[in-house]
Amino acid sequence: MRRMRVWTETRVVLALPTLAATERLAAALAPLIGPGDAILLEGVLGAGKTAFARALLRTACADAALEVPSPSFTLVQTYAAPGVTLHHYDLWRLDGPSALAELGWEEARRDAVLVEWPDRLGMLRPADALTVHFALAGETGRLVVLSGWETRLRGVKEFERNQ
Ligand SMILES: Nc1ncnc2c1ncn2[C@@H]1O[C@H](COP(=O)(O)OP(=O)(O)O)[C@@H](O)[C@H]1O
Ligand SMILES: [Mg+2]
Repeated sequence: MRRMRVWTETRVVLALPTLAATERLAAALAPLIGPGDAILLEGVLGAGKTAFARALLRTACADAALEVPSPSFTLVQTYAAPGVTLHHYDLWRLDGPSALAELGWEEARRDAVLVEWPDRLGMLRPADALTVHFALAGETGRLVVLSGWETRLRGVKEFERNQ
């Protein structure tokens, strides 16, 4: 009889009481990212998606003062970090998934992508992505739910213990 593969999804729920905590989480995740990876950032406007991406990109580029504008108008900004090139997308204004091709999506997937408003990806949503869902919890508090990347999230569990 063929062995059935049981799908177990890891979910890590973290409380991020301040922006600094969000930045520390992003910094902890940055070294885990390599070519082909996708990080999907979910949550309402102002939830902290761009703040998280900014901290992650600053760590990846080893430049604490790196300019990281929200890509809400350009839709994508690219950063050549030493280990991997990262493409930061904000798809809020995307005109349908077919418009993604014009934004170099296929090529970008060979590098790493950070995507705000990933629901806009439709069928192109990567199945093997790490999803980071932000929910508001008070003025500076956020709750994040990380899903995907099962074994790779071990380092993040360390982060939780050290909080
Ligand atoms: N714990 C926190 N995590 C992330 N952002 C926070 C936090 N507390 C306060 N903020 C603030 O919330 C805002 C989040 O904005 P932004 O990252 O642009 O949101 P989004 O990209 O999800 O629309 C920023 O002004 C940031 O300083
Ligand atoms: Mg944003």
